[in-house]
Amino acid sequence: MLNSRTLAVVLSLLIAVVTTAFLSLVHAITIVALVVCFSISFSVAFILIYLILEFLIFKEINKINGLIAKLKKKDFKITGKSLVTSSSPLGRITEEIYTLAKVKQLEIDELKKLEIYRREFLADVSHELKTPIFAAQGFVETLLDGAIDDPLVRDRFLNKASKSLDGLNILVQDLIVLSQLETGEVKMDMTDFDLVHLLKEVVEQLEDKAAKRKSVIEIYTTDTKSYIVHADKFRIQQVMVNLVVNAIKYGKESGTIAIHLEKEKNQVLVTVKDDGPGIANEHLARLFERFYRVDKSRSKEGGGTGLGLAIVEQIIEAHNSHIQVSSKLGKGTTFVFKLRKGLSAE
Ligand SMILES: Nc1ncnc2c1ncn2[C@@H]1O[C@H](COP(=O)(O)OP(=O)(O)O)[C@@H](O)[C@H]1O
Ligand SMILES: [Mg+2]
Repeated sequence: MLNSRTLAVVLSLLIAVVTTAFLSLVHAITIVALVVCFSISFSVAFILIYLILEFLIFKEINKINGLIAKLKKKDFKITGKSLVTSSSPLGRITEEIYTLAKVKQLEIDELKKLEIYRREFLADVSHELKTPIFAAQGFVETLLDGAIDDPLVRDRFLNKASKSLDGLNILVQDLIVLSQLETGEVKMDMTDFDLVHLLKEVVEQLEDKAAKRKSVIEIYTTDTKSYIVHADKFRIQQVMVNLVVNAIKYGKESGTIAIHLEKEKNQVLVTVKDDGPGIANEHLARLFERFYRVDKSRSKEGGGTGLGLAIVEQIIEAHNSHIQVSSKLGKGTTFVFKLRKGLSAE
């Protein structure tokens, strides 16, 4: 094997031979002088070449080998720090290898996460579909088993079966909307419209629902003029209905739901705030996930599919915006997002 020492010996021997050969051409040179010259040039050349090879090249190459060995074991931690200040070309190669391997590993981790997510989603969908189907099946079977002969029982069971199937229909519709939004199949139909006008319609539509819980919905604006935004009117209405219905459903009885509008330079800030029991911190990060519910029984009671916030998030993202949630236990929950101002806005 060629290592730095053998290479240094060979090279310095060559240098010593050449130097001594030249010196021997000098007239009347003594053998002793030639030997001294040979040994001095050999030793000096050896030390220099050996040091250069060992410290500048072989050491770096060994480092690279060590790094590759570590990367094979997916060990990214130890190597990270020792690389930062390297300025030699070999040092930079080491850095490149390290960065590349790390990026690839991150991609692999991301793919694995998506795979888990996909599997969980499939399990969730099957479970959610199964529930109303089994319920309806149960009622129909009881009817077939003889309950159909009693007119009172018959109507009650038919109604229940019908309700289960309605729930199934809503769930499937939500799933279709969500998948269309995710694949970008539905384009946002962007127009300029007045957000205040839209909000008034939403409040009117949900007033009865709020009244059943003795809650009120209020709209606050910072000035009296209109709030023209550039967005998909139908989809934003869907977003507002989802958020306000949630606030009614999960907020407290006799609560207040406040919708605030604020103008910024190029955007309108929309805030939906309730004074309900709030959401614990550990749930907040997963709130927009499909089928994620803090309180399962509560959600299903009100006919919730657990897809509302996932749809809301997709719609807001399709507007190149982002929705955020913050909450304090016992104080209430706030959802915030921004929409682009419309052209006719001043
Ligand atoms: N304003 C709110 N206050 C407290 N919890 C909320 C609020 N909005 C949503 N949540 C929680 O987030 C979950 C997901 O909401 P959503 O996606 O709309 O599904 P659904 O309403 O069908 O349950 C709800 O089940 C509820 O637990
Ligand atoms: Mg909801």
